[in-house]
Formats: sequence, structure tokens, C-alpha cells
Amino acid sequence: MTEGMRKGLTSYGDAEFSLFLRKAFIKAMGLSDDALSRPVVGIANTYSDYNACHGNVPKLVEAIKRGVMLAGALPMEFPTISIHESFAHPTSMFLRNLMAMDTEEMIRAQPMDSVVLIGGCDKTIPAQMMACASADVPSIILPVGPMLVGHYQGETLGACTDCRRLWGEFRGGRIDSDAIERINERLAPTAGTCMVMGTASTMACIVEAMGLALPRSASIPATHADRLRAAEATGQFAAAMAVNRGPTPSQLMTPAAFRNAMVVLQSIGGSTNGLVHLTAAAGRLGIKVDLAEFDKLGREVPVLLDLKPSGKHYMEHFHWAGGVPRLLRELEGLVDLSVPTVMGGTLRDYMQSAEDVPGQDVIRTRADPIKAFGSMAVLGGNLAPRGAIIKQSAASPELMTHRGRAVVFDSVQDLTERIDDPALDVKADDVLVLRNAGPRGAPGMPEAGYLPIPRKLAQQGVKDMVRISDARMSGTAFGTIVLHIAPESAVGGPLALVRDGDMIELDVPARRIELLVDEAELARRRAAQGSTTSRGAAPAPDRGYAALFHRAVLQADEGCDFAFLVPGRTTP
Ligand code: FES
Repeated sequence: MTEGMRKGLTSYGDAEFSLFLRKAFIKAMGLSDDALSRPVVGIANTYSDYNACHGNVPKLVEAIKRGVMLAGALPMEFPTISIHESFAHPTSMFLRNLMAMDTEEMIRAQPMDSVVLIGGCDKTIPAQMMACASADVPSIILPVGPMLVGHYQGETLGACTDCRRLWGEFRGGRIDSDAIERINERLAPTAGTCMVMGTASTMACIVEAMGLALPRSASIPATHADRLRAAEATGQFAAAMAVNRGPTPSQLMTPAAFRNAMVVLQSIGGSTNGLVHLTAAAGRLGIKVDLAEFDKLGREVPVLLDLKPSGKHYMEHFHWAGGVPRLLRELEGLVDLSVPTVMGGTLRDYMQSAEDVPGQDVIRTRADPIKAFGSMAVLGGNLAPRGAIIKQSAASPELMTHRGRAVVFDSVQDLTERIDDPALDVKADDVLVLRNAGPRGAPGMPEAGYLPIPRKLAQQGVKDMVRISDARMSGTAFGTIVLHIAPESAVGGPLALVRDGDMIELDVPARRIELLVDEAELARRRAAQGSTTSRGAAPAPDRGYAALFHRAVLQADEGCDFAFLVPGRTTP
């Protein structure tokens, strides 16, 4: 029995009057008593003129509504915050928790027996996972789908791995300004999310593999007719979930499902951001994503997808090779196929629906992987007492063990001002260090971890250097880059103690990042710094969301959620 329009009545002290008033107002939309007596399916519309990745959302909403009505329920569309990576200041991560709160509260406040969450651009699906985990209303996620690839002079292009690579070529003087302008027009040729294995694709694959979205819905191109059919089917399943009052997010987002997500994250060459988002979503349900377990999985689970930035193909090629169901077949034995899904069955059903595509070379077998190890490794050591992450599948093999001199930047601003200074004392085998770019220090943990190669070195042909920071990196980026150092420098992490010229050692096989300075000297530096804020950290804001963020944001190893949204955590 659904509650429909009776759910969560506005409080006037007379429930029947509340329902009477609610119906009186909603009838102004032309709805009949028959429509208002049906189970209600909410549809979170994340269309925004600022969010080109979500350009197909209006058509998806139309198709979802068709599916809901074909199944005899009432669709109710409502807006939430939408976030595009390039249109969010200071960072999209800064706004993820706001979107999660907005979405959670709108699901909770408005009458709906189930909800379809349309997400895509990087932080939107994570925010929706966090929201639905907390609201615990039956929920189904519909990714907007990836863009089609672009083309330039016979080369296939994709946002935004090729954006970074070609911008690097431009910085190095190997392509001219006319060429880079033409490329600029072709990198993102359609609606949809970045078509490499960036954060958007990673999170779409994860929600599919966790049974929170329909099979193949992660990979169908955004502009393809199949995407609209998937939207219609999503609406039909959402209607069934409304009638059945489940499955609920807490029934689907189990420890086994999160472990499956970690296996998938390692096997797809997924985004480092995916780990932060998984940690945040799991935290909402009191489930801990264990970094040690994630690292252990990385030693057992090979990278099987040949997609950029770890490989060479793009999301549409993954789709036509069979998508997530086909990948699950290759992961049989590593994932728990008994976990339930939004369709009412198990993940085994997804796997069994996989299409066999003869000759495809995008989804490799475990006997013939892209990389024999998983995409990410978790590092410890005296620079990262609570952990750091490196995307080893997109790093330079020759830099996986490396010792070099620190060249330190105190903030993103400092980096911007000095990285291309011809007088900067930097050599190709140095280690670039960026601090005060973490959750609180920046604020919002910008994707600044992909420090540019100093122009004078880029012009000499240097393509990669060891770079370390408490920042994040776009999932579309590549290089030998240590990220998410926790605790961050702005809250007293050891990154604050590094000085120009110190020696730093990266040893990925040993899972360590070490500052080679003796403990007595570090203690002196710590004492000299005292309780003063790390130089370069953003000052504490005194109002609004920024103040809330500063006060409540957790470190990367806890998902950068707000403490007061995590069960069992107290607000600082
Ligand atoms: Fe939206 Fe890449 S910018 S997914």
C-alpha cells in the first residue's frame, strides 16, 4: 500500500485538512482525483543551462514520465541543485554536500513513494547516493550517459583526458593557438558526461554495479535512442518500487555492495575521486570503506577496461563491447553476485544479461588484463599518516619508485603565480609539492593535484614528474600523482612541514611516501609552526554555507562529508 499524496503532510494540526489543502493546490496543475490517488514517483531534475553534461535531461524526464505512467503511477518532477565541473566556484566538491543535503531534504519533504535521481556530471551521482542513503526512500539512479567522441585530423578526442594532453602540448609549444582553438570546439561534441573513465563514468559504473541503476545504463551514449528506452524502463521500475515500497537504498547499499564497488573501481581504471565518494555514501549508512582493504583489492584485481586515461578507448566503445554486465562476467569470483538490485533480482541477473561481442578488445579477460594490478594504490608513510592515493594505472612506471628534491607551493594561488616563472628552481627529477589544497584549506579540495609541468621543463619535453598534494585530481587526468594526503596541511598534516630542497621518496610497491627529514628536525618545525594556521590556508569564513563547510567537513579518508550528516560523528 503506497502513501502517495498522503505522505509527509504539511503540519497544520489537522491531517485531513492538510490533505484537502494539498490536493486543492496540486489540482491547479490540472491533475484529477484518479491521478492523485496513484503511487507517486518523484523525479529529481538536474537540468541546468550551466550544466552541458545534463543537456539531455529534459528528454530523459519525458521518457521516465512515460514509463511511470505506463506502469500506472503518477510522476512528479522536481528540481534540485545541478553541478557542472567547470562552472562551480571554488570547486564542485565544495558544493557536493550542499547538493546531497538539498536532494535528501526534497525527497524527505515532498510526497513520493519512490524517486528517480537523474545524475551524471561528476559530483551529482555521489550527492544523490549520499542523499538517498540518508532519506532511504526507494530510489533508482539514471545516469545521463556519456558524450560521443570528438575528432580532429584523424584523431579521436575525448573530454577531458585529451583536453589535458593537448593543453600540455600547447604549453610545450608543440601545437599553435589556431589548432588549440579548433580542438576546443571538438573535445565535448554532444550532451552527456566526459566519455573517458573520469569520475562521471566511474560513478555511473559503480551505481550500476551496486544495483542502484538498470543494467547498461552507465554506458549507453547520452544521445542514443537506447538511453531514452532505459529512461522509460527506469520509470517503470520506479513505479514498481513505489508499489512494493522497496527495495530501499539501505537494502541495496550493503557492505557487500560497497565491496563490489571497490572491486569495480579497481578493475575499470576508475577515478581517484570515486573512492572519496564511495566513502561518503557508505558513511551515511555507518559502513566504513577500509583503505587497507581497498589497497589489498588493488593487488588482486587487474585493470580490465582499455579506456582512457589508463588505456585507449572511450565509453561508447565500452558500451558496444557489453558494458558493466559484460565486465561483471570477467569479475565473476571477485564480486558478490547475490547482492540485490533495483529490479528486484540480484546482480547475477545483470551479469547474465551480458551481450557477447566477438572480437571486442575493450573489456579484457583476467588472463589478458590492461594492467596486472588495480588502478589505485593506497600509500602510508610519514607524509600521509591517514593515507594518500595514487592512480598507478595512469602513472609513469619509471617513477613508481623515485627520490627527489621538494619544490613547494603553499597554495593553489602560489602555484598559479610561480609554476611558469623562468626563475623557478626546478629540475625534471624534483618532486612538486602542493599544500593547503585539501577539503578545508583550499577550501573544497580542488582538482589541483594535477600540477602542471613547469613551462620551461614542458618545453624541454618533460611529460611527467612526481607530484604530491592534499588536493584531488580529475579522473580524466594522468601522471605520477599522489593525492588526498590526510590529514591535510591546513589541519596540521605533515605536508605543512615540507620545505624547498627536502628530499621526498615515493615507493609505490612498498606503499609509502616519505619525507626524508629526521624526526628531531620535524619536531622543531612543528614547534615553530605552533598552532598557527598553515601558511597559505584559506581563512575561516564567517557566514553562510562556507562557514558551515569549514566547520564540518571531514578529511578525505572519511569521504569529505559533513560530520553532522554521518551517523555516530559529532559536529566539531
Ligand atoms: Fe561533466 Fe566531465 S565535465 S562529466
